[in-house]
Amino acid sequence: MRATTSSTRPRAGAPPADVAVLGGGIIGLVTAWRAARRGLRVTVVDPEPGGGAARVAAGMLAAVTELHYGEETLLALNLASAARYPDFVAELEEAAGLPTGYRACGTLAVALDADDRAHLRELHALQQRCGLDSQWLTGRECRRLEPWLAPSVSGGARVDGDHQIDPRRLAAALLLACERAGVTFRRARALRLLTARDRATGVVLEDGTELPAGQTVVALGSRSGQLAGVPPELLPPVRPVKGQVLRLRMPGEYGADPGGPGEGSGFGRGSGSAAHGPLLSRTVRAVVRGGALYLVPRGNGELVIGATSEELGWDTTVTAGGVYELLRDAHELVPGITELPLAETSAGLRPASPDNAPLLGPTALAGLHLATGHYRNGVLLTPVTGEVMAELLTSGELPGQARPFTPQRFSHPQEQPA
Ligand code: GLY
Repeated sequence: MRATTSSTRPRAGAPPADVAVLGGGIIGLVTAWRAARRGLRVTVVDPEPGGGAARVAAGMLAAVTELHYGEETLLALNLASAARYPDFVAELEEAAGLPTGYRACGTLAVALDADDRAHLRELHALQQRCGLDSQWLTGRECRRLEPWLAPSVSGGARVDGDHQIDPRRLAAALLLACERAGVTFRRARALRLLTARDRATGVVLEDGTELPAGQTVVALGSRSGQLAGVPPELLPPVRPVKGQVLRLRMPGEYGADPGGPGEGSGFGRGSGSAAHGPLLSRTVRAVVRGGALYLVPRGNGELVIGATSEELGWDTTVTAGGVYELLRDAHELVPGITELPLAETSAGLRPASPDNAPLLGPTALAGLHLATGHYRNGVLLTPVTGEVMAELLTSGELPGQARPFTPQRFSHPQEQPA
């Protein structure tokens, strides 16, 4: 189907929606917004659009500092999406009239003990082999950039291209941009995929009503593999990986990007630590006794500390142990955090796939597409996901950069009868 932007009036006999997007998290919303901007009639199905894992996520746009071994293919997509972010944010903020909390503040990845430093050194070498911009610093140089870091910080990598956004504001802006672009919302759960003559034809909602649609996109996050009516061999192999996250409040506002050591509004002088500057001016990631930790200082004074990574099914309990470990490691890294009010604890579910990369594109069932499995990179991959899904929905073609991530990479050849 090719849409024009000149008219959104349905053809005689056409279903009421060109596209049904199942799931109103940031991935579903960006797909809907981009498709609606291209003239498609889009309905988002979700009992609480704007919710999902983005309510918990820290919002790091960490293509470089979150690079893992074996994820070089994913790196190309992550970098492509990071590069789109400034224009994407400008367009979205204008469309919605809302800020997104985007901060081009850069990231400092640090290590505590000698083992942590050796680990981070290897990651830094991987970043360099991949041609990424990452500068190795001594512990002293790290503290010059971020004076509240503990004296035990033994080295780090400065990555000025890894930024951040506030995922809650991003979701709110996408929701409003969708409404302004004419997206319809059905605030209900998607119960079952409708199929007819070997193609997807829409969805049945939990109250039994049917929503016929020319194309259907499953963007249900960690629950994407659970939609009834999808042929079992096409169900995406997505599983939940729990992350617990803390939100602290720093005094003052931190709107400015870091300009150098000690710059920014004054953080209250506390407990004998550094005597100037905000608590943290940029995102700090750390390896602490082998574990990963991050602290994300927002422009509005929020400090997000994350995250656990737990394979516990659908459990989203915030546990004493999870909070303890995050606070223990964060305190070791930035002792001054103990002065701050603990504003919120939360837990969300990352939608993980077998190769940690998203599933983007058509399935073997005509009219059924997937936009799911973004795992640790959902916020980072939001701009490129919207773009490739809208292109697919309007032209029928999946753009080349998304082809390594087609859901069909997980389909198994049919067994031949003996
Ligand atoms: N990208 C951060 C996380 O998954 O915890």
